[in-house]
Amino acid sequence: MKLNNSIKSVFSACTVFTVIAIGYTPNLQAQTAKVIKVKTDHAIAKVQPNMWGVFFEDINFGADGGIYAELIKNRSFEFAKPLMGWSIKSKKLQEGEVLVVNRKEVNTANPRYLQVKKQNEDLELVNEGFKGIGVKKGLRYDFSLMYRQSAPGVKLVLMLKDEHNNIIGQGTLSPDQTGSDWKKQSASFTATETSPKAKFSILFQGNGNIDVDMISLFPADTWKNRPQGLRADMVQLLADMKPGFIRFPGGCIVEGTDLANRYQWKKTIGPIEDRQLIVNRWNMEFAHRAAPDYYQSFGLGFFEYFQLAEDIGSDALPILNCGMACQYNSAEVASLDELDPYVQDALDLIEFANGDVTTKWGKMRADLGHPKPFNLKMMGIGNENWGPQYLERVAIFTKAIKAKYPDFKLINSSGTGPDGDRFDLLNNALRSNNADFIDEHYYRPADWFLKNAGRYDNYPRNGSKVFVGEYAVHANSNITGSNKNNWQSALASAALMTGLERNADVVQMASYAPLFAHIDAWQWAPDMIWVDNLKSYGTPDYYVQKLFSTNKGTDVVSITLDEKNIIGQDGLYASAVTDQTKKELIIKIANNSDQAQNIDFDLEGKMKLKSKATNEEIANSSLNQINSFENPEAVSPKKSTFNLKGKKLNIALKPYSFNVIKIPFNQ
Ligand code: AHR
Repeated sequence: MKLNNSIKSVFSACTVFTVIAIGYTPNLQAQTAKVIKVKTDHAIAKVQPNMWGVFFEDINFGADGGIYAELIKNRSFEFAKPLMGWSIKSKKLQEGEVLVVNRKEVNTANPRYLQVKKQNEDLELVNEGFKGIGVKKGLRYDFSLMYRQSAPGVKLVLMLKDEHNNIIGQGTLSPDQTGSDWKKQSASFTATETSPKAKFSILFQGNGNIDVDMISLFPADTWKNRPQGLRADMVQLLADMKPGFIRFPGGCIVEGTDLANRYQWKKTIGPIEDRQLIVNRWNMEFAHRAAPDYYQSFGLGFFEYFQLAEDIGSDALPILNCGMACQYNSAEVASLDELDPYVQDALDLIEFANGDVTTKWGKMRADLGHPKPFNLKMMGIGNENWGPQYLERVAIFTKAIKAKYPDFKLINSSGTGPDGDRFDLLNNALRSNNADFIDEHYYRPADWFLKNAGRYDNYPRNGSKVFVGEYAVHANSNITGSNKNNWQSALASAALMTGLERNADVVQMASYAPLFAHIDAWQWAPDMIWVDNLKSYGTPDYYVQKLFSTNKGTDVVSITLDEKNIIGQDGLYASAVTDQTKKELIIKIANNSDQAQNIDFDLEGKMKLKSKATNEEIANSSLNQINSFENPEAVSPKKSTFNLKGKKLNIALKPYSFNVIKIPFNQ
């Protein structure tokens, strides 16, 4: 940004530094510059390569109806109401012409199918999709189903129809096998128009008897074009963040409302027709956001989670049930003498991820197409579990896992919040037990985040490390647009994150939560990324997270104002790192005040700084500003370059701004 001449002369009269005014405001003329010292040579902590990660849970239709690109809801008729999402149309439906059949004695994982005894009139089976079906003009759609037919003669006409019932894509499938065995068959066709809210229809023509199951439709443009894979736009947003780890599958999903409803990874791998669907616990959690059609198909299961982590260069961080269901719901626990299957699941998961292909679970991984180990290094035992009963159970898990895998890292829960009796009990006990990581969660107002930017400055430097496994600013209810997070929440997150970074020796991993929300199907807000059936965008928090993650550096260095950590003086929050591989000094500074701030950075040390530097700045004069489908980058970084002279840098920070200043160095 250019300075006008009179301003330039004021600055040049009082400083020999190169002056870069970013977001100049008139009252800055009178402001004496604050001097911030950065000791560029003095590393005070190492930054873990996996410091900034993401938290994935199937909440807000994040998996089914979200990143898992399946377009058919209730594809195997296993919802509590077997025809939920489906409708049957016929001029004259005969009694018994269409039946839901249950074969649970022979197939417990996928008991139901649809029996069609097709008679004279055409019969149409229509699926409404999750919240409609997003269809893109010119894109191929891949249909598949499982069927068996005792009396051939039925042909299936496949149609995508828009909101007005216009056909916008059409194909056919003529079953080519007769007999009592189930067969999978597929057919593809191309959409002729775009529609965000289409439906899918199968027209049964001719006469005959056919049983159908696992009725599926996927777009061809999945991530890496994998058949029946993930939504590419959503994965791309994650990949762009270069997250250090992916925590999965949650969240409360892990616990279940009761133990029967807990997440069991072994039921999520292998052929999709064998993955037993269960109700999603967010189906009924919030009466005001009820989602009676929310189930877990596990099409995105543990193998796919590991694959996703590998694809985007992140560490996998699975969280397993510890023998306790959600304590806000049933609070069921597995008795201590019946904990073995839970512990065995954890041991087997390590073997599944890392074991040689000659081991039972390593072979399973190889059979699924990944003989190479996934190099799993850590897992969480329990999600937000608390109380003495958690301590008893986590001790049993720890003993068994460490006996077999002494270097494997375990993450322990500190309950649901960052303070209070529950937190103190667990935090103290787990620290005395020398737990590897303690998982802290906070969903608090912006003020709390600002006040806690120094939270870890006085934490013990040795012993257990902290994993801030879930956090987000939850502002009051007057945030516009269905509680989407705004610039206020993201700026407060940025302020807190400078405190996490400064204490990277203690806080070794962190992830914002939750990650995804479907605009028509969310239960929990705010969330980092919003999607509809066709599009997705990052919130202001997404951009803050991305700036930290893509500028994590390797070593924390000291940055102070009046010899003190910068944790809110005049609304400033800062941290600094060097990246010894990329040869960059990186300063992160948030200005959470409504005033521009004139800063002199004094960059002490032997480091040979180059004269060209960059600033990635997010600024907005309105703390209420949000991103949206219409304006997805309203709050997003803008890049500028500037020159500095020697070891001095003067910069004017805009009001309500977050700045990532990068200065390359020679050695
Ligand atoms: O992130 C949403 C929920 O918040 C998670 O499922 C749970 O762990 C926490 O309470």
